[in-house]
Amino acid sequence: MQCDSGDRRLTVPVDSDPHVAIIGAGGHAKVVIATLEAASWRISGVYDDNPKTWGTSVLGHRVLGPISQLRDMPGTKGVIAIGSPAVRAKLAAELPLQWIAAVHPAAWVHESVKLGPGALVFAGAVVQPDVVIGDHAVINTGATVDHDGVIGAFANIGPGVHLAGNVRVGIRTDLGTGCSVIPSIQIGNDSVLGAGSVVVRNIPDRVVAFGCPAKVARFISDDTAPHIRQTA
Ligand SMILES: CC(C)(COP(=O)(O)OP(=O)(O)OC[C@H]1O[C@@H](n2cnc3c(N)ncnc32)[C@H](O)[C@@H]1OP(=O)(O)O)[C@@H](O)C(=O)NCCC(=O)NCCS
Repeated sequence: MQCDSGDRRLTVPVDSDPHVAIIGAGGHAKVVIATLEAASWRISGVYDDNPKTWGTSVLGHRVLGPISQLRDMPGTKGVIAIGSPAVRAKLAAELPLQWIAAVHPAAWVHESVKLGPGALVFAGAVVQPDVVIGDHAVINTGATVDHDGVIGAFANIGPGVHLAGNVRVGIRTDLGTGCSVIPSIQIGNDSVLGAGSVVVRNIPDRVVAFGCPAKVARFISDDTAPHIRQTA
């Protein structure tokens, strides 16, 4: 007899071949690897463009060489484990990989949630019904996304961020640690919200904003956009 526990959480099945290549060998990659391993994926290797990382290990997994090696491995399963939304977007467009999505088993994600390829949900996160999480977006440790939220492709929802219901976050936008956002707020594309911001008004595209209440501190030019947060 099957017992229905009533816990309607999303399950993301692991393929019969569970091997995944990791792109990036920094601190963010540690959390990505921990998430994938907890979700029963196996790491086939780590790739990074910093020659100093080659031959070193991340959580026991060897850094095999530059990311360009993956250009010759079409269809390989992969995850981009780099913190910068702009860098993730660039690599996703360049590399011919099969992007996998993963949810840490200690996160709670409702079964109605839509998760794009490459999207990641870390431990302790809670994602409520009818949320849409775009391709390669990251819901970091302990963040919450309430009902009907829309998280744009490549966006970062930082550790401990709380988004109330119906919040929309634009593509490549980066919400720093511990932001709180009231219901139905719209945050534009390519913007950065500082740690601890309290967002009570809509935020436009391409700005850095922070504070309580969050206010726009500056606009982001084409030159500075990809460099706002390059740390891996
Ligand atoms: C908002 C942010 C992007 C601004 O970075 P920056 O442009 O380099 O800004 P600076 O550090 O030069 O600070 C400029 C001023 O803004 C203030 N400031 C910076 N971030 C702030 C924040 N989050 N809240 C309130 N004030 C902030 C600084 O105290 C400083 O004030 P001062 O001029 O009076 O000394 C950055 O501070 C931040 O909060 N990043 C979030 C990082 C994060 O949480 N990442 C998640 C990792 S998973």
